Amino acid sequence: MPQYVMALDLGTTGNRAILFNRAGDIVGQAYKELTQHYPQPGWVEHDAMEIWQDVQWAMKTAIAEAKISASDIAAIGLTVQRETCLLWDKTTGEPLHKAIVWQDRRTADMCATLADKKADIYERSGLFLDAYFSGTKLRWLLNKTQPANLDNVLAGTIDTWALWNLTGGNVHATDHSNASRTLLMNLANQQWDDTLLNTFGIPRSLLADIKPSQGIFGYTDPSILGAEIPIAAILGDQQAALFAHGCDRPGLLKCTYGTGAFLVAHSGKEIVRSNNQLLSTIGWTTATDGGYDLGYGLEGSMFTAGACIQWLRDGLQIIDSAADSEPLALSVEDNGGVYFVPALSGLGAPHWDMGARGAFLGITRGATKAHMVRAVLEAIANQVREVVTAINDDSGTPITTLKVDGGACHNNFLMQYQADVLGIPVERPAVLDATAQGSAFAAGLAVGYWDDYTALVSSRKIDKTFEPGAGKAAAQENFATWERAVERAKGWIG
Ligand code: G3P
Repeated sequence: MPQYVMALDLGTTGNRAILFNRAGDIVGQAYKELTQHYPQPGWVEHDAMEIWQDVQWAMKTAIAEAKISASDIAAIGLTVQRETCLLWDKTTGEPLHKAIVWQDRRTADMCATLADKKADIYERSGLFLDAYFSGTKLRWLLNKTQPANLDNVLAGTIDTWALWNLTGGNVHATDHSNASRTLLMNLANQQWDDTLLNTFGIPRSLLADIKPSQGIFGYTDPSILGAEIPIAAILGDQQAALFAHGCDRPGLLKCTYGTGAFLVAHSGKEIVRSNNQLLSTIGWTTATDGGYDLGYGLEGSMFTAGACIQWLRDGLQIIDSAADSEPLALSVEDNGGVYFVPALSGLGAPHWDMGARGAFLGITRGATKAHMVRAVLEAIANQVREVVTAINDDSGTPITTLKVDGGACHNNFLMQYQADVLGIPVERPAVLDATAQGSAFAAGLAVGYWDDYTALVSSRKIDKTFEPGAGKAAAQENFATWERAVERAKGWIG
């Protein structure tokens, strides 16, 4: 009787395998940071082969760390950075080009040429015409690589690439939540949409089959781990976190602070359209006898959160590790008048400005790196406040607590400022890897390893609740000034 479920969490910053036991505790894990390629300003690429090699390494290392064997694993849940996509040759297994990452802005001009189709694209896909999504990225890849024989070419997001490799090239599929981020899926009927395929010039034959997020996609090729393990769930990482937090009905939402920050609310069984520049998307789907159950979501996507901290570390090199940002921010009384606009990849919700770029404003001779680091952390929380306001406005019922997860939530300064600027409590769970946890829960439930979703998500422990405190008034002033800074950074390119 297999005793564990494995989550594969293939994020923008790195790839992770985590083993969970029946109590939902982590019994082994392995993580490797992923190389980021920046060939030009505004461009971001990943080496898909590196991702696949790191997936294999992470699975084997986690299994070794937990001192178990692959046959002890009941199911694998796969969750991935969304929108990032690639083309590969199915005869060789070789990518035709590096994968274009969701943060990449290279197709902003292509989007501009399609402006007259904007309304139709939104109506069909629930998404805005933006370089963020896969549609224009796949078109760019086809233009660039000019494959001689399209019959040998497959296209996919990272879930599709990983699944194809995990199954030894047998299964070319994706799930509804990832497909809903491509600009190519019709949100109402959950199938590839011929009009959208035509708009972006993507041949249907390149695309994967779309399947329910919770259900068996295939089995691992025994040559990889020595066992045939069912891959029993695939979800976009933000939807996986939504699943982990137990947000399975309208009124429930979460915010994940990963490379970007993503606030997603479950919106029920019907498509809900936002009046405030939020996306309509799939929450997740669950296979049933002969069909599937479906839940939609409303999403505010903020492109840079943890990525800003990574940039402070690797780009500016003013901190040695992400953890350094907390004591540095706390070493000064306030931001010293310095404000940061986190538009390193343009601005997502609620502005959707592909031409915005990052900016520090208000720098004087007295500004120190502590002020700059503090301004970056405040900016991450300020943009979440903007999206919470948008969600509140759309739903008509203000949220009363923000459930959070993701690596940046370790930062107590960020969490306290978030509570202060929102004026509501921020609830931090003990397991911050909610994306991995959600995909493991979904896969384990799909194979009957667990049988009660509500009990499972209720068993998650809360580490700390941050209440709005003494910093509340100052945070409101800070937010108002920061909004002015955002206006200055808009439309910088083009
Ligand atoms: O839409 C992009 C998102 O899925 C990336 O997630 O965790 O890498 O910030 P993350």
